[in-house]
Amino acid sequence: MALDGSRVEDDAWWKSAVVYQIYPRSFADTDGDGIGDLAGITARLDHLVGLGVDVIWLSPVYPSPQDDNGYDISDYRDIEPMFGDLAAFDRLLAAVHDRGMRLVMDLVVNHTSDEHAWFRESREGPNSPKRDWYWWRPARKDVGREEAATPNNWGSFFSGPAWEFDAASGEYYLHLFSPKQPDLNWENPEVRQAVHAMMRWWLDRGVDGFRMDVINLVSKDPDLPDGPLLGDGLYGDGSPHYICGPRIHEYLREMHREVFAGRPERLLTVGEMPGVTLEHARLFTDPARGEVDMVFQFEHVGLDFGRHRFDPRPLRLTALKESLGRWQAGLAEVGWNSLYWNNHDQPRIVSRFGDDGLEHRVRSAKMLATVLHLHRGTPYIYQGEELGMTNAPFASVEDIRDIEALSHYAQAVRAGEDPDEVLRGLRARGRDNARTPMQWDASEHAGFTTGTPWLPVNPNHTTINAEAAVGDPDSVYHHYRRLIALRHTEPAVVHGDFAMLLPDDERLYAFTRRHGDTTLLVLANFTGEAVPVPAGIPAEWLDADLVLGNVAPVDPEVLGPWEARIVRRHHDHHTTG
Ligand code: NOJ
Repeated sequence: MALDGSRVEDDAWWKSAVVYQIYPRSFADTDGDGIGDLAGITARLDHLVGLGVDVIWLSPVYPSPQDDNGYDISDYRDIEPMFGDLAAFDRLLAAVHDRGMRLVMDLVVNHTSDEHAWFRESREGPNSPKRDWYWWRPARKDVGREEAATPNNWGSFFSGPAWEFDAASGEYYLHLFSPKQPDLNWENPEVRQAVHAMMRWWLDRGVDGFRMDVINLVSKDPDLPDGPLLGDGLYGDGSPHYICGPRIHEYLREMHREVFAGRPERLLTVGEMPGVTLEHARLFTDPARGEVDMVFQFEHVGLDFGRHRFDPRPLRLTALKESLGRWQAGLAEVGWNSLYWNNHDQPRIVSRFGDDGLEHRVRSAKMLATVLHLHRGTPYIYQGEELGMTNAPFASVEDIRDIEALSHYAQAVRAGEDPDEVLRGLRARGRDNARTPMQWDASEHAGFTTGTPWLPVNPNHTTINAEAAVGDPDSVYHHYRRLIALRHTEPAVVHGDFAMLLPDDERLYAFTRRHGDTTLLVLANFTGEAVPVPAGIPAEWLDADLVLGNVAPVDPEVLGPWEARIVRRHHDHHTTG
């Protein structure tokens, strides 16, 4: 704060930036194998230029057995052949830079693939010099059969135990995700040094930073204690022992020192952090501490879970406001947050919090975009979100490819759940909803590939596609473009103080952003019915200047179905409102 109480504007470039996430497998295929590739991304960059985004985050493109679509890396310093090679990568990077954008790599270092050379060596036996690079533990003594005696009771994020038995050495290794994703042991300094060296190698090649996959899980309590049994009684919850574990801040500070210090300020670091608390987030992103620039947290996309993520419950708008509002307040003075509805792990937002039917899809997609992009933080757009892409109509479990969904299905059905019910959950919440190919045009396979796509395109690509959206000034795409332009030109969007209004209203989302003599008010209707503007919104706002809306305003005192408005007032420094 400056002496007069106004916020000192710091010049961190990423505060006014918008990030666009590309899931390379599903973006654009140039060689007809049905899987997207780097050349496809390079060929489609002008779509992103048109939108106005500043940064591209590329989901993993490294060599990988693809057990978890590339989040299982077998070589950190090369490119998966089905995506291209290092020369194709360099061409993409140069093309991104030529267009004034930046490129951020996905850094997946909580675990490697079990086919990574490090793990192969580690697996050679207890005397391997790399044995300690992973979490190997003997079977529990108190249980009869070794194969049933996991060292602790933790379950994996992908169903089943977090341990895999290795018959050759009679020991288990830890994998918080699939058995093909063994966890690295960050307690070992050689592991950390190898990771830092690899990161410097990519920065030297010219990349502009990293999105760090589940980075707050890398510090584990080395005793690996049991956790309390979870609802289904099968496994214990180990998360208190690995979410923001004992050395996490030390590790990130060390990484910052070893990798980022002294590098140009063009870099961006974002820590993907499931289960991170606001208190930890503030520590992670306090610039004075030198850890990461921003966190990517999950609280607001977990509000509509029942027993687990595949057990959908309706969203209560008041809960969404409570959560997002608390994060806005908590990081107001120190720290920075990412803003997102979608990524490659989330169902499509218009099908989730909006209405993906014919009548309201466009409006509700624009409403959701408006609300998100006017918060304080750095917005992330996931490929196809700017078209209002929807969830996919998976007819049966055979249509599903994602390891998380398939493992959940197998476990739930084995436990006696009704397969149709389980499938209903996967349809609503499965990650494959985000992974159907990008819809470029109305042609067969949506212009994504000339071959057979690895995951079928959504049949609605005949109407929902980039070509149609770019040609229609009223499309979801142009609305996103306008929101990005607004962030680039209106300092109140970047820096303004956030105040939540109407916290108890289940239908309307309302807040202000105040900066200097400018205040923006955002009003949004989260329902398909008209809602009168309540008395909680001061009357002087009703005739304020409309900055951007998603429908031509009909009645200033009523918000139409899914309507969203951004209005602006200028005032004297010392008045309120
Ligand atoms: C988070 C990633 O976003 C997700 O796709 C992946 O399955 C897990 N981390 C494991 O890497």
